[in-house]
Amino acid sequence: MNIFTTKQALNQYLEQSRASGKTIGFVPTLGALHQGHLSLIRQAQQNSDEVVCSIFVNPSQFNDPKDLEKYPRTIEADIKLLEGVKCDVLFNPPVSEIYDGNEQWHLNIGELERLLEGKFRPGHYQGVTQVVYKLFNIVKPDVAFFGQKDYQQFLIISKMVESLNMPVKLVMCPIMRETDGLAMSSRNIHLTAEDRQHALILSKTLNWIKNNFDRNSLPQLKTQAEHMINDEPGLELDYFEIADGDTLHQATKDANSIVALVAAKVGKTRLIDNVLLVHGS
Ligand code: PAJ
Repeated sequence: MNIFTTKQALNQYLEQSRASGKTIGFVPTLGALHQGHLSLIRQAQQNSDEVVCSIFVNPSQFNDPKDLEKYPRTIEADIKLLEGVKCDVLFNPPVSEIYDGNEQWHLNIGELERLLEGKFRPGHYQGVTQVVYKLFNIVKPDVAFFGQKDYQQFLIISKMVESLNMPVKLVMCPIMRETDGLAMSSRNIHLTAEDRQHALILSKTLNWIKNNFDRNSLPQLKTQAEHMINDEPGLELDYFEIADGDTLHQATKDANSIVALVAAKVGKTRLIDNVLLVHGS
């Protein structure tokens, strides 16, 4: 695997790939890689000739400095995993390569960035769009791959790409789960054995909603889900919403796409998860 830490070196390499007619697939990450990330790499390999993964713990998307400090950094293990799946390129820049001093600009994506996660993590999506905009400009991918795990993030990046006419196709990849249903996440490392058990209520509840979707009204489903989660010890629910899959406003049953989204603190670790109830066409 080719590893680059500067834009210039990466650019030089990718220009040659482009010149030889290769398409470039891109998987941006914060590192601490797990099978969810690797599933994106595999999907990228099936859809492009050269796959670039970036590992960059982006300071501007962490609204809580403590969260940034304790974000897992496991670069040696990450490199081994990427080599194991034959990823072509790793871009692993230092902060100074991406940010020029104390940059204050951000893109305005509108209300999508203020709903749900945006409410609980003010400024988070401004940091995400800032870094993804920069990374897209550096890598210039033909296709970029993101997980459904961060459903709202995918919608926001789609909105950015659409409104700025960025020449990149986006692909949303399914959520990878542990065998007991827990959505894979770099943050799962922080869960104690007890937290880990309590955390299962999130995927169990989403599953229950999916299985009972046709039998209940949306308000009934939401109330029942909130009860299920609040009855579990060791959890603090931030939100459970059944939302329109395009706008993230409260859904009606005739919506083109419907998604149930949940966020909760499990012990000291904040987890998110979701399930698509109606797939948009
Ligand atoms: P990170 O949390 O590292 O996630 C990188 C990509 O992996 C995202 O597209 C995310 O949705 C996907 N992913 C995470 N867990 C997954 C799972 N269990 N199954 C499938 N895909 C999963 O998201 C970010 O980083 C950052 O915000 C980033 C886009 C890199 C910008 O800094």
